[in-house]
Amino acid sequence: MNVIGYDLFFELFGSGEAPGARGQIYSTPADRPALLALARTMRSRTVIEFGVQEGRTAALLLRECPWIERYVGIDVPADFAPALVIQLPEVPQIAGHRAAGDGRFELLIAEGGSRTLSPSDLPDRVDLVYIDGSHAEADVRHDTALARAAMPLGGVIVWHDYPSCIGVQRVIDQLNDAEGDHIALIEGTWICFELFRGNACGALGSSLPSDPTGMAAVAGRAEYSPDATAPVAGAAQQESGVPPSGGLAPQASSRLQDRPAEPFGGGVPCA
Ligand SMILES: C[S@@+](CC[C@H](N)C(=O)[O-])C[C@H]1O[C@@H](n2cnc3c(N)ncnc32)[C@H](O)[C@@H]1O
Repeated sequence: MNVIGYDLFFELFGSGEAPGARGQIYSTPADRPALLALARTMRSRTVIEFGVQEGRTAALLLRECPWIERYVGIDVPADFAPALVIQLPEVPQIAGHRAAGDGRFELLIAEGGSRTLSPSDLPDRVDLVYIDGSHAEADVRHDTALARAAMPLGGVIVWHDYPSCIGVQRVIDQLNDAEGDHIALIEGTWICFELFRGNACGALGSSLPSDPTGMAAVAGRAEYSPDATAPVAGAAQQESGVPPSGGLAPQASSRLQDRPAEPFGGGVPCA
């Protein structure tokens, strides 16, 4: 597992501080700042959040990132029974209400959970996806496949709850094993992220490795596969030595620490 040092991450991606960014329950203090730092640096314009809950994170990102044009928050009906019983208390009575006053926010209630969604339900040019819905392995895998399909021009996928939830951990570990460790854990947080090449890489675009086949690789990733660990067209690029995703800028990836992740204190697992 790639682990990017805490200080190095915020050195590279800038501050994620903002009023209300800290203090999230079921997380480490730096989880929301890490997400915000990525959204600021990448200048993300179209965002999807799987598991928007009441919309606290959505409201924060919308307030702090005026360049966001569209923010789709996905959740379930109030009487939904999540796959993991431990997630039952998280199901909101009124999903997304904290962000609902912002005209850029759209709520998508998936009656049967996000696993019933397909790419046609989502915007097709997304550049930031935050995966924080069901933490059941099959759901995380499905949400990851949807995220990749929605990102033809590149961007960043952020997962919450690694290593605090075994389902999230399994999916990310499987992807890293299959694809070459392109997903990095931010040290001291429960946040993992992966950068994809493409025209939507914003401020980082110029520092990502140049790769004439990058768009083809991203297109490969954009193939929707409910089993996100199944080989996709991008895997062929990997065999030829070209990684299917952008990964970190060279100076960052060379400083990543390759070591096993350990659970961090300060939060309650699986939420
Ligand atoms: C940890 S909370 C999300 C917190 C939120 N992302 C935030 O930062 O404020 C998990 C959310 O996932 C939702 N959820 C659970 N199972 C889901 C499913 N199958 N599909 C979509 N959302 C689901 C829950 O209703 C809950 O709102």
